[in-house]
Amino acid sequence: MPPADCFDWVKKDYIDKAPRWCSVDLRDGNQALIIPMSLEEKLEFWDCLVRAGFKEIEIGFPAASETEYEFCRALIEKNLIPDDVTVQVLTQSREHIIARTFEALKGVKNAVVHLYNSTSVAQREQVFRKSKEEIIEIARFGAKLCREYGEKTAGNFRFEYSPESFTGTEPEFALEVCNAVIDIWQPSAENKVIINLPVTVAESMSHVYASQIEYMCKNIKCRENVIISLHPHNDRGCAVADAELGILAGADRIEGTLFGNGERTGNVDIVTLAMNMMSHGVDPRLDFSSLPEITKAYEKLTGMSVYERQPYSGELVFAAFSGSHQDAIAKGMKWRGEKNPEYWNVPYLSIDPMDVGRQYDGDVIRINSQSGKGGIGYLMEQKYGIDMPPEMRESFGYYIKGISDKNHKELMPDEIYAAFKQKYVNNFSVLDVTAAHFKQNGGKTAQITMTVNGREVYGEAHGNGRLDSSSDAIKKALGIEYSINTYYEHALERGSKSKAVAYVGIDTKDGPVWGAGVHEDIIDASINALVSAINNSTLI
Ligand code: KIV
Ligand code: ZN
Repeated sequence: MPPADCFDWVKKDYIDKAPRWCSVDLRDGNQALIIPMSLEEKLEFWDCLVRAGFKEIEIGFPAASETEYEFCRALIEKNLIPDDVTVQVLTQSREHIIARTFEALKGVKNAVVHLYNSTSVAQREQVFRKSKEEIIEIARFGAKLCREYGEKTAGNFRFEYSPESFTGTEPEFALEVCNAVIDIWQPSAENKVIINLPVTVAESMSHVYASQIEYMCKNIKCRENVIISLHPHNDRGCAVADAELGILAGADRIEGTLFGNGERTGNVDIVTLAMNMMSHGVDPRLDFSSLPEITKAYEKLTGMSVYERQPYSGELVFAAFSGSHQDAIAKGMKWRGEKNPEYWNVPYLSIDPMDVGRQYDGDVIRINSQSGKGGIGYLMEQKYGIDMPPEMRESFGYYIKGISDKNHKELMPDEIYAAFKQKYVNNFSVLDVTAAHFKQNGGKTAQITMTVNGREVYGEAHGNGRLDSSSDAIKKALGIEYSINTYYEHALERGSKSKAVAYVGIDTKDGPVWGAGVHEDIIDASINALVSAINNSTLI
């Protein structure tokens, strides 16, 4: 093979078109499970794959077990294969296995028969103890049988060949074997052949695989009628990179699984690949808009679990706990609302979580002791319509962080809202204003009837407005000192439509204190907020 800098794939920097996708969940994925799926489970998984938009699905190895055979028959006999979906089955190059494979496929509309044999140096020497010529002969033998059985079986068949352990095979030899198979299958524009070049076990960095793929693409016979397919396993954690660089190198098709299930460290994760494309503005032609449901179904059917930080699908992959991240996300979302930009560019979120069925509240802003005022304020505003003034957000932020720190747990939105109501809203624990009347006389005179720990007190004062004069009347009647530093009000849009919320901040000798009032009448709401602030202070 020529050196890496002679390859064209290094000159490309993006993928401009989705490849053909083939899900191997029901074969490679299934054979890696502790308990392989039952027929019913496979049927449910099949449904999930079809709904996600897969047009090629490897359904199993029908000659390997009764369940695999029956599953294939069930799909055909129950007419469960949509016209635009092709099933694929795996077979070894042995006559009784090929015969059983075609028996399983009888009556299928469209199927790919996937033939493989191992070609790597290690397998040739240690497992099969065969020469290169003998290995080529195994491939040729299987290819001929597939062609013959295909001709005498009802159905429309296409063929795929995998030089298994391709990455452990000398590229020149892999090319020789593949070309020998192509010679037998004689592909045409109407009946293309798939040559699948698996990373059966990953052994090198992704750029090496890409160069191997480009070498194959440039040298294979009948390239125009050959679909080059990739099947990367994830032993080195590079399966996604292998697939992406392999596509840059000329591959047309990817075999992989949802969430990367598969032998050992798994197959390439098709969700990640597809969403990586989507995040670059390329339509992946797969639908993961309800990824949480797909994840749940996958976990139920396979008994596997999706890692919390698995790209795009993990529970925590959009979560921002840290205050600075939350603040940037809250500001980014606001900016987005104002500017409506063409591209998604909110800080700390690689894609819009809604694209994969996730929610901003609950999935993105998550509150623990690392969180800050930005995130907590954002959550209160977005979920409950509570738009506190900035200084109050800060104070409430510290209060919530403190609760989380003390209890050593994440706080759910409803717990935060409950804490807000309990701490600030309509707090009449000591002081309670039972009646407020106002006289207009070059300003406002407030006549306030109140109780302090149940004892009735009356106060009257003149001021610029209702809140001012009420505050002065309370101060006079109780003999307390403070000044109002902040007042803010707005309608409550969520929950209680006809109500208003008011926020009052007061400066006391012990520092600033906050209160909030909720009422149908905005005057009552503002007095409630003031009373709540006083009750939250050390003034009485
Ligand atoms: O990983 C592999 O090489 C395979 C082949 C059967 C394609 O699964
Ligand atoms: Zn595999």
